[in-house]
Amino acid sequence: MVSYKEIGLVNTREMFKKAVAGGYAIPAFNFNNMEQLQAIIQASAETKSPVILQVSKGARNYANQTLLRYMAEGAVEYAKELGWEHPQIVLHLDHGDSFELCKSCVDMGFSSVMIDASSLPYEENIALTKKVVDYAHQYDVTVEAELGVLAGVEDEVAAEESHYTRPEEVIDFATRTGCDSLAISIGTSHGAYKFKPEQCTRDPKTGRLVPPPLAFDVLHEIEKKLPGFPIVLHGSSSVPQEYVDIINANGGKLPDAVGIPEEQLREASKSAVCKINIDSDSRLAMTAAIRKVFNDKPGEFDPRKYLGPARDEMKKLYMHKIINVLGSDGKAE
Ligand code: G3H
Ligand code: 13P
Ligand code: ZN
Repeated sequence: MVSYKEIGLVNTREMFKKAVAGGYAIPAFNFNNMEQLQAIIQASAETKSPVILQVSKGARNYANQTLLRYMAEGAVEYAKELGWEHPQIVLHLDHGDSFELCKSCVDMGFSSVMIDASSLPYEENIALTKKVVDYAHQYDVTVEAELGVLAGVEDEVAAEESHYTRPEEVIDFATRTGCDSLAISIGTSHGAYKFKPEQCTRDPKTGRLVPPPLAFDVLHEIEKKLPGFPIVLHGSSSVPQEYVDIINANGGKLPDAVGIPEEQLREASKSAVCKINIDSDSRLAMTAAIRKVFNDKPGEFDPRKYLGPARDEMKKLYMHKIINVLGSDGKAE
């Protein structure tokens, strides 16, 4: 058993309290490799933004849970080396699907876990979430739960259609589980294809898809039921069209990839939404940069020569999200 406190990580409790009161959101960036982690830490240190490093099932399968956990420990030291005196870094399990997995993360030094039992019937979701909360809270690890279903694939649980979170359930759910934050469904979804073309309109000038707006009415209903309670948005990549264009111009094929417009995320950040999950945008930044190097310099075979530019592009993306979308810069001086 290792406590996250011994390795300089923090849980989400204070972070979320301040974010809800201050009208901004904390970035939750997924990481799977060293370059992503370096870019996240560089961007957070430079902007003095609190940050959540999150580890998905895909990341655990790809990179190994133990290795990622030690990389996060290294990230705390790296942040200090970059001149961030008091880094506020959370190591979070993204979409945990069992008590055993959540326990293993708590035991190895994660400071926050998500138990995603949203695909289970309501009472089973409550029972499993409460079991995780009861365990995690003994070690001061915070717990995110989910109510409602996002369309798309959530760590191998595929849902054809989204079901918005029912505002009438949230008080009962939060009270009976004791969870610290709640992921809700208001129209976001995972991946780079968040909406089918038939759900969108098309901008006549650019020909680009314009997605339907998020269900802010549902968000506001939830906020009214649980004043000040930390709300989380998954599936919040905006799928920057510049990256899609670079990818497509350099041999890629991502037709009609579409995300959540950043103005809507900015608006959500000002509400009780205090954690915004972004993974796909980082994948797009990385892929765009790498494809460009491969196309421009076909003789290049030193991975540092394409992973380096990919890292720089991701750092730019993370800084943009922190400063211009979530408003978390300067909140962890
Ligand atoms: O929850 C979705 C995240 O983007 C993680 O996806 O399991 O492919 O890493 P992944
Ligand atoms: P995106 O696919 O929109 O980046 O969402 C990531 C996410 O919600 C991770 O849990
Ligand atoms: Zn998610």
